[in-house]
Amino acid sequence: MIGILDSGVGGLSVLREIKQHHPLHPIIYVGDSAWCPYGNKSYESIIARCRTICDFLMTRGVDTIVIACNSATIAAVETLRAEYPIPFVGMVPGVKPAAQASQTGVIGVLATEASLRGAKFHHLVLDHAEGLTVHTLPCPQFVDLVERGILSGPEVDAAIEEYTAPMLQAGADVLILGCTHYPFLKKALLDKLPTHIKLIDTGEAVARQTQHFIDSSEEGPSEIHTTGSLSHLEQMIPILCPQLTATCHHLAL
Ligand code: DGL
Repeated sequence: MIGILDSGVGGLSVLREIKQHHPLHPIIYVGDSAWCPYGNKSYESIIARCRTICDFLMTRGVDTIVIACNSATIAAVETLRAEYPIPFVGMVPGVKPAAQASQTGVIGVLATEASLRGAKFHHLVLDHAEGLTVHTLPCPQFVDLVERGILSGPEVDAAIEEYTAPMLQAGADVLILGCTHYPFLKKALLDKLPTHIKLIDTGEAVARQTQHFIDSSEEGPSEIHTTGSLSHLEQMIPILCPQLTATCHHLAL
């Protein structure tokens, strides 16, 4: 059984990719919506929340944990790997594929403040985007909109304009969706951005990596837990993951 965690509903964008490959594999997802966003929190508090969630996932017998959150990966994955006896799959903004896809040599990284301040992120840029111009910008409104289930409309368009206009003016032709909430705005972004702009998100790559830890003969029901409001989560699932079959639960952590 796979455990997945995120600060809220964003990691469902990763869960849906994993389910593409293994629709019947049992997954326990924890969205820490009561503590969302992680993007403006200290690493100490993100690590503390991740430990609490991982302790819960361990009691449920998961054999692998996917940190479906760039911020939590950058803040906490090394600590968690040292403390728990099971494998962790983490995720970071897709700087490498973005650098490979850019023709102008200018890329934009949309991610959280917590991700962008991390040494892990700075190393990614040094290792994979040498000689390129890399613009970074935290997009907290995107997280808030997705947590509220607002994926299109005037509020979304205004946020897209605010966050992407400076990047486009600087000549970026590739934008990284460096937070798992953002892929839920992909359609709105594609509708609004010039057609030559490429969007990179790493959900599919994480799902491929997770496959190495999946026993494909294991089948069973999946559960989605939230530390926030259960009725809100129940309203969000049909909006964010209409195909998903899973039971929803409130988790007091
Ligand atoms: N979904 C998270 C990420 O990938 C963080 C959003 C937040 O809580 O700020 O970074």
